[in-house]
Amino acid sequence: MNQLHETARALVATGKGILAADESTATITRRFEAVGIAPTEEQRRAYRELLLTTPAIEEYLSGVILFDETIRQQASDGIPFPELLARKGILPGIKVDRGAAPLALADGETVTEGLDGLRARFEEYRGLGARFAKWRATYSIGGHRPSDYCIWTNAHALARYAALAQEAGLVPIVEPEVLMDGPHSIEESARASGRALEALFTELHDQRVDYRGLLLKPNMVLAGYAAPQPATADAVAESTLEVLYRHVPAAVPGVVFLSGGQPDEDATVHLNAMSLRGPHPWQLSFSYARALQSPAMDAWAGRPEGVQAAQRAFAHRARMNSAAREGAYSRELEQQGVRSS
Ligand code: 13P
Repeated sequence: MNQLHETARALVATGKGILAADESTATITRRFEAVGIAPTEEQRRAYRELLLTTPAIEEYLSGVILFDETIRQQASDGIPFPELLARKGILPGIKVDRGAAPLALADGETVTEGLDGLRARFEEYRGLGARFAKWRATYSIGGHRPSDYCIWTNAHALARYAALAQEAGLVPIVEPEVLMDGPHSIEESARASGRALEALFTELHDQRVDYRGLLLKPNMVLAGYAAPQPATADAVAESTLEVLYRHVPAAVPGVVFLSGGQPDEDATVHLNAMSLRGPHPWQLSFSYARALQSPAMDAWAGRPEGVQAAQRAFAHRARMNSAAREGAYSRELEQQGVRSS
């Protein structure tokens, strides 16, 4: 097995998932301001240190995705974050896309930027300790969206990124995210997700990307957040699996879901429901930002005296999602954890 295959498999090792701690400065500023935290560089560093130094977190995490600023930062004792992770046996990753920009001549749609100079950036990130990478494309549903134009342009860019990542020896996480804002039905969500995945794997294939050395990070298939009724957990699990079975090659070692703004416990319940329907050709796991971090950020609120409570809240969500990977999550487990934390 080559190094890329090994890294990809290590990222979806039994019981472990990925923390996305790679919010851009603009995104983390929005999240901090929503809970009254000053959006300074030092607060961003202190917050990421809190997450990465949570006791025993390596039992539940295989990897952490960092942002450009974060991969260059250090813990209070001077240890660079990538080294701190490596010492715990957690693989450091890096978000390399530069965000979604308006797609020309496509009203309301976006294309993800960041390909220019990417080969040189990969070299630098590899030197800083990164072993895997992430690139996110987004598609919205509504009217004639997502257009084929948006789907194929983003698929092409995702595959160009993935090929460059593998050339540099980093495992690419490819993230085609169909957004759940709006009143659309779960069927519309399934159709859009299937179209995005079909285009993505066509481009990955044509651009010679090795499926065994990548991970897919998709949205779960939900009804839109403004739909009259949310879908049941069974419907989410069945629709999501149906889309994956139709469009994702069995050679892909793992599917690591994003949480996409679902309530924290829903993201856990949905992962658990899919695990219970296994075994599947790919490992199913998590790569959440909000659904792992929200209670921790609230508990911390920017205060040093909030660090321990925040770490307990973070470890709790990581433990619950680790259990969900095995189909072992339950309301009772959720409550026990809350009582003991
Ligand atoms: P959420 O889990 O908050 O959707 O974030 C995952 C992510 O990495 C988005 O790119």
